[in-house]
Amino acid sequence: METKITQLLDIEHPIIQGGMHYVGFAELAAAVSNAGGLGIITALTQGTPAKLEREIVKCKTLTNKPFGVNLTFLPSLDPPDYAGLVDVIIKEGVKVVETAGNNPQKWLPKLQESNIKVIHKCTSVRHALKAQDIGCDAVSVDGFECGGHPGEDDIPNFILLPRAADELTIPFVASGGMADGRSLVAALALGAEGINLGTRFIATQEAPVHDNVKEALLAATELDTKLVMRPLRNTERVLSNAAAKRLLEKEAALGENIKFQDIIPEVAGVYPKVMQEGQVDEGVWSCGMVAGLIHDLPTVKGLIDKIMQQAELTIADRLRAAS
Ligand SMILES: Cc1cc2nc3c(=O)[nH]c(=O)nc-3n(C[C@H](O)[C@H](O)[C@H](O)COP(=O)(O)O)c2cc1C
Repeated sequence: METKITQLLDIEHPIIQGGMHYVGFAELAAAVSNAGGLGIITALTQGTPAKLEREIVKCKTLTNKPFGVNLTFLPSLDPPDYAGLVDVIIKEGVKVVETAGNNPQKWLPKLQESNIKVIHKCTSVRHALKAQDIGCDAVSVDGFECGGHPGEDDIPNFILLPRAADELTIPFVASGGMADGRSLVAALALGAEGINLGTRFIATQEAPVHDNVKEALLAATELDTKLVMRPLRNTERVLSNAAAKRLLEKEAALGENIKFQDIIPEVAGVYPKVMQEGQVDEGVWSCGMVAGLIHDLPTVKGLIDKIMQQAELTIADRLRAAS
């Protein structure tokens, strides 16, 4: 299947694995790229330029296909060395950068002068238009269903994607709630050029996370996510667990007086404990509503092949029968 995204990124299938904290390591990124999609290493999980460089070098030993790096810009009192991370990305010849969290304008000239394609992930049409105006090559449009940070507008993909299609001239991929071949065909129908998956890729053989995390995703339904940190205007969709319950109780009790300091036990430094040690109730961790569509733990290649087969069958059989 050829779309503007497969052409732009030089990949076989229009499927991207979004950056994921403590999930997007070289093993997963390489598996996705080897299977014909675009795998993405998450820079902030590595933290320093030297560690990111090691992870990129490792990924290059695992695949000779293109892969990307996610740069998430977060407000922080002690920001990571973004300039150093960008330098390493350029030095190592990475082909694609997924930016998220904030406007990537500052880094665009340097990245694009080095022939790196920049896909900005955003949750609203106005931010997607801004990304287009500043010269991003593509956008990833993240609907309200998504795992992670859906923004504050709460617009699901059935509205957000056609709205994006009406406004954008650069290609975009649909992100949030994408699970299978049906998702891909629906995304294409709504104007996207491909799909970006997060949560679904965690439930694969190669995802380098503890089995407890994969089991939790298998057990979860579409009813098992919660929105936390809304009063801080930093809304995150997370798996409904003991920590999410505690956090929501604090939000209810403290109301609009709540501060980040109040929720440190539930949010700070929890990813290594959850993803690596398997302490899935230790803190809140991102999970999309798509958990309700996850019933197996395939290999990454098995998943991607099945998505493509189902998409082609859906187009050939179901859509043709309806026409
Ligand atoms: C566990 C987890 C961690 C994530 N971490 C990041 C991150 O560090 N940076 C980022 O831009 N997006 C992050 N995301 C969002 C994904 O890249 C992707 O946009 C989102 O998962 C898509 O929605 P889906 O989960 O419904 O597929 C994360 C998502 C999950 C599930």
